[in-house]
Parts: sequence; C-alpha cells; structure tokens
Amino acid sequence: MDQLSMKKMAAQAALQYVKPYSIVGVGSGSTVNCFIEALGIIKDQIKGAVAASKASEELLRKQGIEVFSANDVSGLDIYVDGADEINPQKMMIKGGGAALTREKIVAALAKNFICIVDSSKQVDVLGSTFALPVEVIPMARSQVARKLVALGGSPEYRESVITDNGNVILDVYNFKIMNPVEMEKELNNVAGVVTNGIFALRSADIVIVGTPEGAKIIE
Ligand code: 5RP
Repeated sequence: MDQLSMKKMAAQAALQYVKPYSIVGVGSGSTVNCFIEALGIIKDQIKGAVAASKASEELLRKQGIEVFSANDVSGLDIYVDGADEINPQKMMIKGGGAALTREKIVAALAKNFICIVDSSKQVDVLGSTFALPVEVIPMARSQVARKLVALGGSPEYRESVITDNGNVILDVYNFKIMNPVEMEKELNNVAGVVTNGIFALRSADIVIVGTPEGAKIIE
C-alpha cells in the first residue's frame, strides 16, 4: 500500500474523536490535508477549527469550515496533527512544513493531541531519520547555528523558507535525541530560538498509525 493511502486511513480514523459542535484544532502537512478533507464531509456537525498554519487555514475555508483564531478560544477538546517522527513514548519531531511554532501553540490549547502518521514515521530514537527543525529569529541565525554546532549538531539553513511568523528554519542533522524533554528545554533556551521541533513536553495522547493492515490506534 502506498504512503498516501496510509495517511488517508489514519486521517479518516481520527474523525471518531471529533465531538459534535466542537471547535477542532488542526495542524498542518500532507496527512493533515487528508484530515481536513475528511472533516469537510462532516462540516455541518462541527462549529469550526483553529488552524496551525496559513496553508491549513486556507484549506479549511475551501472546505467551508469556519476558522477561529487561537485567541478566540479558551481551550480545545482535540488537536489533530501529523509528525515527522514519533517514538514509543508518543514524543515527536515536527516542523517539516515549518509550522512548528504555531503547532506547539495550538497543541497547548488542546486536552487531547491526536497524532496521525503512516508507519514510516515510527522510530525508537528521535533524530534517527529526520533532521530537527529549529525556528530562529533571522538576525540570530548565525549565532544560533554556532551554538547548535557546539551542541554536536550539523545545522543547515532551509533556504527560501520564511515561516508564517516571519522567521527562518535551521534543520539540524546528526542529533540523536536520547533525552527529548531536556533537549527540548535546552534548545528553547538559546537566545534567538523561537522554538524547536521536539514535541516532548507536550507529547501526543493518542497515535493513529496508517498501516497496510488498517488504522492502528495507540492510546
Ligand atoms: C509541519 C509538520 C507536519 O506535521 C510534519 O511535517 C508531517 O508532515 P506530513 O504529514 O506531510 O508527513 O510538523 O510543520
């Protein structure tokens, strides 16, 4: 089975967690795009969505789903998002689509984080297959890169990408993330870092993995 079909399967299975007349937190990326499409079919049963990227906002509107600002809600029942890597503790690397900061903000509003992935995203140790994205204030790019090198990483500037917040992305290779919680805190303490793509302090609550055998739910 191809990867897109597995993403669609995970996205479809996430619908069972959507409460009637609720506002749904929606992340970004190709798996989430499948979820937005599925959400469009039940749009009359929900109040709307809070989106973690401008791209998701646009897709939600195209489906006829009302988009609320994160400032308009005091909390969300669920947040549905993909991941670049997820470990057995439901901690993730995210930010392949450069939306990590807004994703962290919307995830923090939600009672339940539902992570939808295909099976290629499952790893034992974060950093095994995917570079770690770090969102950086443009004027601090070089000094943050030097600090990341000092910490053992190999940062690469993601050319011609500006985040929805007007910042830049450094993708850090060669980080084996043995202690995700400590690493997330340490990197977020570097001056000039807006946030990094480790989602360990706020990990997922439910993981839905699209596999050739069907959607597997890990609660
Ligand atoms: C965007 C993200 C995405 O959730 C992550 O990159 C996974 O994307 P995809 O569903 O396209 O594989 O973190 O910033």
